[in-house]
Amino acid sequence: MPQPQAYCGYYNLARAVWVYYLLNMNSDDRLDFPATGRNAEPILDVLRDVLPQQGTVLEIASGSGQHVAHFARHFPGLTWQPTDLDPEHRRSIAAWTAELENVRDPIGLDATHAPWPVQRVDAVLCANMIHIAPWEAGLGLLAGTGQVLSLGGLLYLYGPFRIDGAHTADSNAQFDASLKSRNPSWGVRDLGDVTDCAAEHGLTLETSIEMPANNLSVIFRKTA
Ligand SMILES: C[S@@+](CC[C@H](N)C(=O)[O-])C[C@H]1O[C@@H](n2cnc3c(N)ncnc32)[C@H](O)[C@@H]1O
Repeated sequence: MPQPQAYCGYYNLARAVWVYYLLNMNSDDRLDFPATGRNAEPILDVLRDVLPQQGTVLEIASGSGQHVAHFARHFPGLTWQPTDLDPEHRRSIAAWTAELENVRDPIGLDATHAPWPVQRVDAVLCANMIHIAPWEAGLGLLAGTGQVLSLGGLLYLYGPFRIDGAHTADSNAQFDASLKSRNPSWGVRDLGDVTDCAAEHGLTLETSIEMPANNLSVIFRKTA
């Protein structure tokens, strides 16, 4: 039987552990995607040239939340709405963005499920989703964007693409093969296919920009 003093010591220790846990709960939820940390700054450089200074930006498939946390700090006049279908990712997004007043709570949004639970937005961002998801997710992304994006607003995509059916680098061909071995419905998409489907939703290809590691930034404008 512990003496009252020793019991009090255990109690204080347990309480200190619990308080420490509560204080660190947010940081525990933060996932760290190394590639996301690496490409956040090159993507930001492109966004600086194309995003408006005010309005609402919807991010589809926010993943860890590292991107939205980074971008929101550099665009304080924009309101950011992160989303992801994975609950663990949404907890990570919330943890990365807890201190940021211009970031809304993450929404559970599956790009393939229409209608999206969001109001009209001025821009839509989606990095590294359409090749790591079935083609239906890409189609859902384009259809949903067509519904919620204001006329003149932009859709920004980031990732590897094939051009006219061909990979732009050996490393992308290897990546494509590894994606398909994990899930036959995944794979590096052809920019022509994406552009054709985007046009069906009033989205016109404006430009594509070469990025590090054989990725592209692709910008569509809502023109109809
Ligand atoms: C490779 S991660 C990319 C995350 C982040 N955009 C980035 O660049 O770091 C792909 C993300 O897509 C999400 N995702 C996959 N299919 C989806 C869908 N149908 N709708 C919404 N998100 C989806 C996954 O949950 C995951 O968070």
